Amino acid sequence: MRKLTIVLVLSLFALVQSRAQDVKMNAFISKLMGKMTLDEKIGQLNLPGSGDIVTGQASNSDIGKKIKEGLVGGLFNIKSVAKIKAVQKVAVEESRLKIPLIFGMDVIHGYETAFPIPLGLSCTWDMNAIEKSARVAATEASADGICWTFSPMVDIARDPRWGRIAEGSGEDAYLGSQIAKAMVKGYQGDFSKNSDIMACVKHYALYGAAEGGRDYNTTDMSRVRMFNEYLPPYKAAVDAGVGSVMASFNEVDGIPATGNKFLMTDVLRKRWGFKGFVVSDYTGINEMIAHGMGDLQAVSALALKAGIDMDMVGEGFLTTLKKSLKEGKVTMQEIDNACRLILEAKYKLGLFDNPYKYCDEKRAATEIFTDANRKTAREIAADCFVLLKNQGNLLPLKKSGTIALVGPLADNKENMAGTWSVAANFEKCISVLQGMQEAVGNNAKLLYAQGSNLDADKAFVERVGIFGKPLHWDDRPAADMIQDALNIAKQADVIVAAVGESAEMTGESSSRSNISIPQAQEDLIAALLKTGKPVVLVLFTGRPLAIKWESDNVPAILNVWFGGTEAGHAISDVLFGDVNPSGKLSTTWPQNVGQIPLYYNHKNTGRPLPEGGWFQKFRSNYLDVSNDPVYPFGYGLSYTHFTYGDLKLSSTSLKGNQTLTATVTLTNTGTKDGKEVVQLYTHQLVGSITRPVKELKGFQKVFLKAGESKEISFNITLADLKFYNSDLKYDWEAGDFEIMVGGNSRDVKVGKVNWKK
Ligand code: BGC
Repeated sequence: MRKLTIVLVLSLFALVQSRAQDVKMNAFISKLMGKMTLDEKIGQLNLPGSGDIVTGQASNSDIGKKIKEGLVGGLFNIKSVAKIKAVQKVAVEESRLKIPLIFGMDVIHGYETAFPIPLGLSCTWDMNAIEKSARVAATEASADGICWTFSPMVDIARDPRWGRIAEGSGEDAYLGSQIAKAMVKGYQGDFSKNSDIMACVKHYALYGAAEGGRDYNTTDMSRVRMFNEYLPPYKAAVDAGVGSVMASFNEVDGIPATGNKFLMTDVLRKRWGFKGFVVSDYTGINEMIAHGMGDLQAVSALALKAGIDMDMVGEGFLTTLKKSLKEGKVTMQEIDNACRLILEAKYKLGLFDNPYKYCDEKRAATEIFTDANRKTAREIAADCFVLLKNQGNLLPLKKSGTIALVGPLADNKENMAGTWSVAANFEKCISVLQGMQEAVGNNAKLLYAQGSNLDADKAFVERVGIFGKPLHWDDRPAADMIQDALNIAKQADVIVAAVGESAEMTGESSSRSNISIPQAQEDLIAALLKTGKPVVLVLFTGRPLAIKWESDNVPAILNVWFGGTEAGHAISDVLFGDVNPSGKLSTTWPQNVGQIPLYYNHKNTGRPLPEGGWFQKFRSNYLDVSNDPVYPFGYGLSYTHFTYGDLKLSSTSLKGNQTLTATVTLTNTGTKDGKEVVQLYTHQLVGSITRPVKELKGFQKVFLKAGESKEISFNITLADLKFYNSDLKYDWEAGDFEIMVGGNSRDVKVGKVNWKK
């Protein structure tokens, strides 16, 4: 009772304090806005690109002059304190009202110390690690002058053709929501320190549901699906206090997200209570012209009225809002609202108190790319790799004998960091060859041959260059390159093939219609297999690949995504068993492109195929391929083995807000210590709308010593049973539920309960 009183008093105190701070902030901003001209107010809504890093049409206007005139709210993708400080100085010394700018950047998975791509990070299922990666990124970025990151990207994606699947957390709304929260917390802290930066959750909304997996393409889905399966991660970021939201490029329900009042106002602000500001994506407002929503004046007014507060790059707000106001197409209130939200963000970041809060020149030298940060990146990278296959315990390798390392990604630094590594220094990335060489020293002989180009088509290899720089191309005939590889393979005890995608085969504008390993590399793998020597694939990718053939024929496959700066070290740590792999997939890996979309939490349909079966006439299946994935969601092997005991439920009949406890005994029955991600799924058997065959509702990453057993329990409450019904009401329904616990979404122990009102 006493404890409760203390908690109540403390939270009341915190509430009063935050109210008082709000009152102070509002008074400050009202006073400032009282002095602002209409042009200056519209200027706050303007976010030109700096030109350092450009992902679309560049801002071509004279930014310096505009800053002096108070016509710029912030800048993005400028690198270094020196540059940022100089620009900030213009804003706070040469503009009339001395309003500081905010400086944004795409700090997506680390800064100079690059962490694994987000899809890889999600496979750690380790929220502390993910939060830590965001914290390190925030510390490094802020030491370089950045106070705002365009991350986390939380778009649910069930189509691996879409290149930007690499930037998100996969296909599941629950896992995605936990990660969204962890990242926001890691970046933002409480804004008190100069290492706390503002996060921007993106791309709101449904960007990952692009038709055909083609980037920027149309999305269209029912509201029920949207609310249950796609919106939760954005909402989780809002609940975690994210400071800003980025609108997506795509249309939703016939209206581009950037002009979509339902999304930006009705859902984001009214339903979820979002208090921060919304920025368009890069020229997202202007792109509504091509979408067919009108001319620049019309689309800019549409965006503002829908709830967009800041215009990235396009200057539609800057050049048309005044006219629209005069013509009654937007209101002063709408402009004021947007301006206030931008100023509030600057206030919360502490920029009015100290515009140079993030401009401490001394920090960069001691806080960026430090040994400690690299160590963290190495550990997290090793934990995100997913061991897909390990026939006959081929892995881990011994640090002895002769090892042949082949493949276009083996002696390669520039592809290690992965897409959206705008601040990484590729020269400092660790290649597989370097990592393995360091690991084996003089204890083993390491031979290397490239073996193939990334792809047989030179034009394709050029297309996937990084920041316009083409990748290495070897002019020799493919057969000669393979022969090189075979020559060293002959001398070796084991062959390690570093193959797959290059960094820019995923990411923005990198969709593929064929998601296999490029043929030139498959030819290399086939030739290596013919030698009869054991082959290990070290597989690089930013998406689930269609690797049925490899999965059937290659004895060991370690999927390493793009591991960041420390990729080569982390890969060696796992290959040689210094780290036991524990990553689990956050996406389903299909057998072929034709099965897409393939995801674990699908509906049953009226004509389901019995589990594990294949073709049956008049059932929901294909003539030429089964419905099974190659690797299911949640899947990943270890060098040890985990055995699940039967599922014990605390009750099979529950009522109202009782709590159900589901317990399994997990035993490490192998010979190595290791980590396992124990996953909880539920299935509502009958509902007012059809319900998924299973839904992730919890997970725990546990460490067990070889031979050790542990009881793992999950508490399940009504909150876990809730979903959006056809009236979009978030509630639960009484009835029968299956409760499932296992090491992946396919292999689970099942129990059944009845839950009454
Ligand atoms: C991307 C965003 C990114 C922005 C700024 C756009 O092309 O869609 O994710 O934050 O550029 O670089």
